[in-house]
Amino acid sequence: MWYIWFFIVVIVSGQNVTGPITQDFQDWLNRNGYAQDDFVRADLGNAGSYGGRKNSSDKIAKEPVIFIHGNSDSALNSKSTGGVMSIATGWTNSINYFLSKEYQSRELYATSWGNTNAMEASQRTHDCATLTRLRRFLEAVLAYTNATKIDIIAHSMGVTLGRKLVQGGLVTGGNCDLGKSLESYVDTFVGLAGANYGLCNCMGGSQQTCNKQNGFWPGDSCGQNLYTCSINPPLYPCSNPTYSAYLTSLNNNPIKIASYVYSAWSQDDDLIMFKDLVWGRPTSLIPNSTAQKVYSKLTHMQTKENTAADQYNMVVQHTI
Ligand SMILES: *[C@@H]1O[C@H](CO)[C@@H](O)[C@H](O)[C@H]1NC(C)=O
Ligand SMILES: *[C@@H]1O[C@H](CO)[C@@H](O)[C@H](O)[C@H]1NC(C)=O
Ligand SMILES: *[C@@H]1O[C@H](CO)[C@@H](O)[C@H](O)[C@H]1NC(C)=O
Ligand SMILES: *[C@@H]1O[C@H](CO)[C@@H](O)[C@H](O)[C@H]1NC(C)=O
Repeated sequence: MWYIWFFIVVIVSGQNVTGPITQDFQDWLNRNGYAQDDFVRADLGNAGSYGGRKNSSDKIAKEPVIFIHGNSDSALNSKSTGGVMSIATGWTNSINYFLSKEYQSRELYATSWGNTNAMEASQRTHDCATLTRLRRFLEAVLAYTNATKIDIIAHSMGVTLGRKLVQGGLVTGGNCDLGKSLESYVDTFVGLAGANYGLCNCMGGSQQTCNKQNGFWPGDSCGQNLYTCSINPPLYPCSNPTYSAYLTSLNNNPIKIASYVYSAWSQDDDLIMFKDLVWGRPTSLIPNSTAQKVYSKLTHMQTKENTAADQYNMVVQHTI
């Protein structure tokens, strides 16, 4: 009996999806000036990255999908090598699902950013080094695939990084310019459990990831409300709180990042907490979204891991 369960577990958890990016893509990256970007991330074994042609004569038939993970996560599931504290389940479930729907590795791309040490999560922010490298990954995938349209699926901090990667331009709180907007290349942008208006747990803004410039600072007051970000409804009238400069510029940017923008989140998110509300508004709702989906019972990581079919429908059918 045990071996039947073993196989069921392997299939359901999709551990057979293995990276890193293919030799063909690696060779292309090395030939085209991307050798220093380390998109392979061999430090995470086979989980550091994914995507590319297996054979240089393979045709790319579908719009490539680029996956951008959140803080302390990795491209694919790296929990087995990441130690007991690791939460890094990566995009393994989503990629497995897309593969089961006749996508190929040459149409699905991910790289890792940061490391998977959750103890260091409080130090990571929307900085120029991370944004510049991930923007180069988008540009590399566009050039390698010759795609005229791509889709982006992002989770958690990947949402607030990914929106900026598409918007381009100067980075608030940093000293870099990401270049022109890539909006015309993006068909669908899916934002799962992002913190677009910051995190109530970041009031005060003292940790680096919560900082007021390019972190998740939600503002310390709103109208007469002082340090009560998580109280809903707010005690006093509240509109337009001052929050992180980076997030403010992201939300005020007139660039529409994709033809279809979907936001999804869970009422039970254990990281964002407070039913996803920040000063009374859902922080995971990307401004001007085409549509939104609200789950009731998923954790922060499950909002990525357990929703592959919804992600697929958003990207392929434009339904939610
Ligand atoms: C690549 O595909 C071509 C055409 O289908 C085939 O002839 C060749 O053997 C393949 N190469 C490899 C390494 O699989
Ligand atoms: C994973 O393994 C199962 C069982 O062998 C197979 O049916 C499935 O196609 C594999 N998935 C991928 C993405 O290789
Ligand atoms: C992309 O275009 C270049 C230049 O025309 C070509 O060499 C390359 O094979 C194309 N790549 C794909 C994946 O079609
Ligand atoms: C987003 O919606 C607001 C309010 O409806 C509108 O003023 C703004 O122009 C929209 N922005 C974009 C980029 O469509």
